[in-house]
Amino acid sequence: MSLTTVHTVADLRAAVAKWRAEGLRVALVPTMGALHDGHISLTELARTHADRVIVSIFVNPTQFGPNEDFGAYPRTLPDDQKLLDAAGVELCFAPSVDEMYPDGFATKVTVDGGMTNVLCGAARPGHFDGVAQVVTKLLLQAMPDCAIFGQKDYQQLMVIHRFAADLNIPVDIIGAKIQREEDGLAMSSRNRYLTPEERAIAPTLNRVLADITTKAQGGADVGPLLAKGREEILNAGFDPIDYLEIRDGKTLELIGDKVSKPARIFVAARLGKARLIDNHAINPGIERT
Ligand code: PAJ
Repeated sequence: MSLTTVHTVADLRAAVAKWRAEGLRVALVPTMGALHDGHISLTELARTHADRVIVSIFVNPTQFGPNEDFGAYPRTLPDDQKLLDAAGVELCFAPSVDEMYPDGFATKVTVDGGMTNVLCGAARPGHFDGVAQVVTKLLLQAMPDCAIFGQKDYQQLMVIHRFAADLNIPVDIIGAKIQREEDGLAMSSRNRYLTPEERAIAPTLNRVLADITTKAQGGADVGPLLAKGREEILNAGFDPIDYLEIRDGKTLELIGDKVSKPARIFVAARLGKARLIDNHAINPGIERT
């Protein structure tokens, strides 16, 4: 079966209804396009959970701040369609901004509290409102059995778990491992913004996170580790660092001393035109206390 692309909610729903009538399980992988192997890995995980896989491609204006890269964000639909076809994806949903936000659109979805006012929520005001709004719409439009999201955007994944549970959206939210380039750089559509010199510097983020993770797991104090990590990231040429923090892997509460439970180290930093993010699990195997 080759890839079909639809642009309207009505056509999306008609395709899903046909599969449902055949008793098939459906997975949705929401994306903003400019697809890379990280996205394709989500479609592969989706395939292990469902008979039919939908990938949505929509550069969602409401999750970008006024001075962010909405205009510059790469839009590469023909290339994306080739990749999806080769990956065996059945349906690409590529709506227009008018299809998603027609005249008169007025509804917001906000996740309050400690999960959204830290990390990217602090650095990008309103960002997670936009994500929650568009992902709620995509889930209700497609009504899949499950939807796959990458741990690359770990805070986003936690926020989506939160509102899907709060709003009783009957879709299993499934997290997927971060895919990296051979030198450790987390794959990202925004890596396209990097010059060759910046691309050579970019893996520093992963190296610093890996180093801090090993030392934190060995019982080192977090404060000095983070101070040294910040210095290494700045010295490599990143500027500014939005955050380099260790937080609880579930609640995202800050951890300031030794890490004695499952946690995550998170980083966001600018390199030239690109704002890069990454994270690593700390103590993933130990019991939660
Ligand atoms: P986008 O940045 O295109 O990412 C789409 C999905 O791919 C997200 O779930 C993201 O976490 C995942 N992803 C990106 N890079 C990855 C990598 N290196 N390894 C594993 N997964 C990776 O995230 C968004 O779009 C948007 O915010 C969206 C959820 C589509 C809402 O607009």
